[in-house]
Amino acid sequence: MPIETAVSVAARVPEDAALLAVPYDSELRPALDLDLHVPVAGLLAHYEAGGEAGEVVEVPVARGEGVGRVLLYGVGDGSPRALRKAAATLTRRVRGKESLAVVAPEGDVRAFAEAALLAAYSFKIGSPGKRPVRALTFVGADEEQVRLGESVAQAVALARDLSNTPSSVKSPSWLAERAAEQGVPVRVWDEEQLQAEGFGGLLAVGRGSVRPPRLIQLSYTPDRPAGRHVVLVGKGITFDSGGLSLKPTENMKTQKTDMAGGAVVIAVLAALAKLGLPVRVTGLVAAAENMPSGTAQRPSDVIKPYGGRTVEVLNTDAEGRLVLADALAYADARLDPDVVVDVATLTGAVTVALGRHVGGLYASDDELAKRLTQAGEASGDRLWRLPLIDDYAGALESPVADLANVEIGSRFGAGSITAALFLREFAGDRPWAHLDIAGVGRSTVDEGILTKGATGFGVRVLLEWLSGL
Ligand code: BES
Ligand code: MN
Ligand code: ZN
Repeated sequence: MPIETAVSVAARVPEDAALLAVPYDSELRPALDLDLHVPVAGLLAHYEAGGEAGEVVEVPVARGEGVGRVLLYGVGDGSPRALRKAAATLTRRVRGKESLAVVAPEGDVRAFAEAALLAAYSFKIGSPGKRPVRALTFVGADEEQVRLGESVAQAVALARDLSNTPSSVKSPSWLAERAAEQGVPVRVWDEEQLQAEGFGGLLAVGRGSVRPPRLIQLSYTPDRPAGRHVVLVGKGITFDSGGLSLKPTENMKTQKTDMAGGAVVIAVLAALAKLGLPVRVTGLVAAAENMPSGTAQRPSDVIKPYGGRTVEVLNTDAEGRLVLADALAYADARLDPDVVVDVATLTGAVTVALGRHVGGLYASDDELAKRLTQAGEASGDRLWRLPLIDDYAGALESPVADLANVEIGSRFGAGSITAALFLREFAGDRPWAHLDIAGVGRSTVDEGILTKGATGFGVRVLLEWLSGL
């Protein structure tokens, strides 16, 4: 379900607008002369408005025979962050309504429109609750900026939809079918091809499921030849039960979104094709279902991810790094990228470190880390760089194989860092970054631009970063 709210742009306020939103500044001056039969500044003062973003003062007005409403909305400091908050508040305020005309604020109209639409996102199987507003008209806005915001919001919505889809529907091959619908060429490795080419990580993780793994490659080539080649890798675990290292019920029930990184990669490739950005991008989604069964891999098994190094699997719940190892090693050996970025709901530990609003960033290259951090700030998908501490590499030593997939014991701890160190072993010597989105990939609240469930975190920061290359 894409965002269903229809978007239009108008030069002036539609005469019949029953719901009209008008911004005001911190001096309580509205952006439009309004005849409300009470002085607007006095009205705002009466309600003790301060002009903050997220503040809305509702005023009933005569509209023909009936009653309409003007929503006076604060814009705070007018920053993109403040405008996002203002926009999300407005769309939430008019849930269930037919249409809202919004006089656009000064500043970043793209961020404003994007947030207005993201707050209108919903994923419903059935029809509980109020539906989002059916139509939004941005008055006096730059149409190009509004459409850009709309495209990005729809890309985020696609990522959310894929992640919110129940795992009974969402098998690895289902994900491959969705990838093939996005307007870019797709190549899919089935289990036989994975076997023939030595993708031992995907095969090991997928062994416990009746629904076999897939490696999905999406290729975007711009019209004009592009200088750089970016590879994006996404974790695509369509359900993570933990495997034989089974998760407890409480932890398992959120794990249909364990392919959120893969969903981000699919959605970014879809948006690239629509927006026509001038950069060459290959997406790889490592898709498997992690289930316990008589055919599942066992703790203590030794497997061989792509490239032939050996890994002792001590915990089958540390499966993301195994499938990512395949995709990262394949990208390094076969795709000749200038830069590789992977996105993965990799560790519960990153949530302990950074919480639910900031994603973890690791990078082998300072310039890449800086650019991704900046893109994160600009886009609203905030990232915080965490260190690849070499001294912790001992956590991944195995007595029988080249590497262990988890630490035995807890001498090192730092679960998100040691997971990143594991991935680094397979990324080669190219500039590489890893986004651990386990904390930010799903939201526990319906608030602002977030809806309960999948967030699509990663789409906005990656599109912002790619558009600056
Ligand atoms: N998919 C999980 C990580 C996760 C946890 C994502 C919570 C979203 C919410 C991952 O595969 C996992 O199970 N990680 C383990 C690693 C451990 C076994 C070393 C974890 O974080 O507990
Ligand atoms: Mn797991
Ligand atoms: Zn997982």
